[in-house]
Amino acid sequence: MSSFEDPVVDLSGQTALVTGGASGIGMTVARRLAALGARVVVADITDLAGQAVADEVGGVYLHLDVSDPGAWSEASAALVDLDIAFLNAGVSTRIDGDADATEAPMGEVTERAYRRIMGANVDGVVYGARAVLPAMVARGSGHIVITASMAGLGAIPFDPIYGLTKHAVVGFTKSLGVTYGPAGVCTSAICPGFADTKIISPDLATMLEALNVPIISPERVADTVVAALAAREPGSLWAVWGDLPITRYVPNPVFDNLEVPL
Ligand SMILES: NC(=O)c1ccc[n+]([C@@H]2O[C@H](COP(=O)([O-])OP(=O)(O)OC[C@H]3O[C@@H](n4cnc5c(N)ncnc54)[C@H](O)[C@@H]3O)[C@@H](O)[C@H]2O)c1
Repeated sequence: MSSFEDPVVDLSGQTALVTGGASGIGMTVARRLAALGARVVVADITDLAGQAVADEVGGVYLHLDVSDPGAWSEASAALVDLDIAFLNAGVSTRIDGDADATEAPMGEVTERAYRRIMGANVDGVVYGARAVLPAMVARGSGHIVITASMAGLGAIPFDPIYGLTKHAVVGFTKSLGVTYGPAGVCTSAICPGFADTKIISPDLATMLEALNVPIISPERVADTVVAALAAREPGSLWAVWGDLPITRYVPNPVFDNLEVPL
């Protein structure tokens, strides 16, 4: 057991936004944050499932396509009092039902598939941070947790564009951590290995099983989010893989004393 397991966290009186909250990791984290006392805003594009999660956790549902900058502007009233923003919505390059939008080879990736994953996984995180940061900075408190992936730390040969997006948000997390940490706003990212959610296609699940690659539960990923929230270390990355303990990576603080406009 690492020291990051089972921290005592009380989120009573706090409000948390969870993007991609209708399914998988987002749904599980929404439940966990609510169980720890938070009021949860469940945001997604899958309205029925998202509303059901919001009802279950006693929160509110927000239809929000994270890739749409206008949607973030329209949602601004719902985002002013946030203590936690879990920027989690994401997709792989594959689009279910699209014969021509495979994850590989690169020469066959369609423009539509590429724009869709960049929109959700990169634009969605940038727009989300842009929307929530001003109020957090004004209050001098807040925590943005970004769902990256082990694919943001190492190679993912069968979906290199997915790897690109997750490396991008890892870099974004490190910089936001250094930039906004001194203003009281923490940014951290979680880097889970494969987790049992809808993003894992049946074909991928079969391949992972054949390779003996562990698939963890979304609850285990929620443990990692709670570890990041408890530690409040700006720019930190929280990795979890198989049965291994939750591991923290803190980047070298090269620019700690650099003053930049907020
Ligand atoms: N499951 C894994 O193996 C794994 C591992 C590491 C990281 N992740 C990341 O975890 C996050 C959540 O994925 P998951 O595994 O729970 O998959 P999932 O498919 O179960 O959930 C993703 C959710 O995001 C929503 N979503 C997709 N595009 C959206 C958009 N443009 N705007 C708003 N919501 C949108 C979907 O409707 C869905 O509810 C993703 O960022 C994913 O890359 C997953």
